[in-house]
Amino acid sequence: FFAKPWVFVRGVPALKFLPPEGPPEVAFAGRSNVGKSSLINALLGQKGLARTSNTPGRTQELNFFVPDGFGTPEAGLPPIALVDMPGYGYARAPKEQVDAWTALVFDYLRGRTSLKRVFVLIDARHGIKPNDEEVMTLLDKAAMSYQLVLTKTDKIKAPAVETLIGETLQRIRKRPAAFPSLIATSSEKGQGLDDLRAAILAQAV
Ligand code: GTP
Ligand code: MG
Repeated sequence: FFAKPWVFVRGVPALKFLPPEGPPEVAFAGRSNVGKSSLINALLGQKGLARTSNTPGRTQELNFFVPDGFGTPEAGLPPIALVDMPGYGYARAPKEQVDAWTALVFDYLRGRTSLKRVFVLIDARHGIKPNDEEVMTLLDKAAMSYQLVLTKTDKIKAPAVETLIGETLQRIRKRPAAFPSLIATSSEKGQGLDDLRAAILAQAV
């Protein structure tokens, strides 16, 4: 499924441009530069599909990716869309623009019926930050299922990753909409990608 070609279908700059509710979607949320777009490319084995950058603030719309042939009977695929989102936090862009992206992300996360699970990405070097807490609180209030994903694990040592996993699970223990396990990934080294693919496929019913 993930080995098939995937295509970019739509960039959504405001809620009114969202596709109609329908097939399941999973979304990738997280602070600017955490590695959302890189993780989508790594999952799909398609470098350059989602645009990435060293500069926080690369992704500026809700970008929808689907398997090629999506929606046609011949495709014979479980239909699911992956949604790459603008980061929240410290994007290097004018404040009004960052506020607009954040509002778009928050409104989408709160109100979308087709959205089955949100992967909340956390940089393994930094752990959970206050704006991640804010997003998790919003998701808890909206009863929107989410799962934490550590990114860039290649940048820290294996024992430090283990410690961080334990601490992070402890911190989300009381959060009602949080999935009680997390996936540690590296887009660079391919760590955790199969686990994440399985978690995505589980939403494509
Ligand atoms: P915005 O769209 O700006 O919110 O950022 P993003 O979360 O989509 O991050 P992006 O995928 O653009 O990656 C940001 C930077 O982190 C890029 O320079 C990537 O090469 C780097 N990066 C992403 N994933 C990894 C990883 O697993 N390991 C390492 N070492 N670097 C990574
Ligand atoms: Mg991005």
